[in-house]
Amino acid sequence: MESPWRPRRNRSSRIIRDLTAETVPDRKKLIMPYFVVEGRDKREQIASMPGIDRVCIDNLLKDVESDMKAGIESVLLFGIPAEKDDVGSGAYAEDGIVQRAVSSLKREFPELMVITDVCLCEYTSHGHCGIVSNGTVANDPTLELLEKTALSHARAGCDMVAPSDMMDGRVGRIRQALDADGFENLPILSYAVKYSSAFYGPFRDAAGSAPQFGDRRAYQMDCRNAREALREALLDEEEGADILMVKPALAYLDIIAAVRSATDLPLCAYNVSGEYSMVKIMAAQGFGNERALAVEILTSIFRAGADMIISYHTRDVCREQWF
Ligand code: PBG
Repeated sequence: MESPWRPRRNRSSRIIRDLTAETVPDRKKLIMPYFVVEGRDKREQIASMPGIDRVCIDNLLKDVESDMKAGIESVLLFGIPAEKDDVGSGAYAEDGIVQRAVSSLKREFPELMVITDVCLCEYTSHGHCGIVSNGTVANDPTLELLEKTALSHARAGCDMVAPSDMMDGRVGRIRQALDADGFENLPILSYAVKYSSAFYGPFRDAAGSAPQFGDRRAYQMDCRNAREALREALLDEEEGADILMVKPALAYLDIIAAVRSATDLPLCAYNVSGEYSMVKIMAAQGFGNERALAVEILTSIFRAGADMIISYHTRDVCREQWF
């Protein structure tokens, strides 16, 4: 017999569905990543990430201009230098690719929120996120280079720095370096909980940053661990992070929810390259609807507790008003 106390919400009414929706995805909470390369008139399609290109600074300005018209307000920059070396000099060069991209963007679009990824892996010949000595990544000597990188981005005019390297102690060191140089008000968005993940595959193809030997398991997290995520998150909070990030997002929704309830800091999630490409490839093969897939994934990340999401779908969401 049917219970007399069953809920009487009428789900066939779109209006009631909207009124009772618990999670409302908002495109103002999305951040669009860009890959910037040296040169002029450059636009290279990234085979593993359909719809995303590597662009030179001139084309970056054009893309950002049209993206801003579509409503994008926040961007995350990744630089790919012309040359890489074993200490990742391009990451902290005053005239490095990201530094020049930031100053051009802020000159053209002062109101744009420009966030920079602070890491060495796109700039090192060996593809690791830090300095390598005796075949392993040396945590402490890397910190100084990360400080220099964050400072160079700040001096170029970025609005926020996002360290993604996962070296221990880098948030505190970057905070001190920024404060000492007059950037007391520049926030740090910390990739606090970053798992060693197969979902970064397309990104490494895009940035040419696949490790040339070994893997990143020495400094990125093991997907079997959840308590460790809280420890990483709380340490970064203690060191002065302003926003915490969990990455990847889709296979880590439980981690997003757990970090959300463990701290009051704003929480960001990174809907990474592999999560994006899965949707693109399914849609291209006719196995699913791109909009429906992307909206469901992004909504689930918000539902898990993210306040904001870095996503390669941002451009399509905004241009095509998916939400
Ligand atoms: C740099 C960095 C990576 C990503 C963001 N910052 C790659 C990595 O750790 O290998 C991945 C983003 C993505 O897959 O979209 N350390």
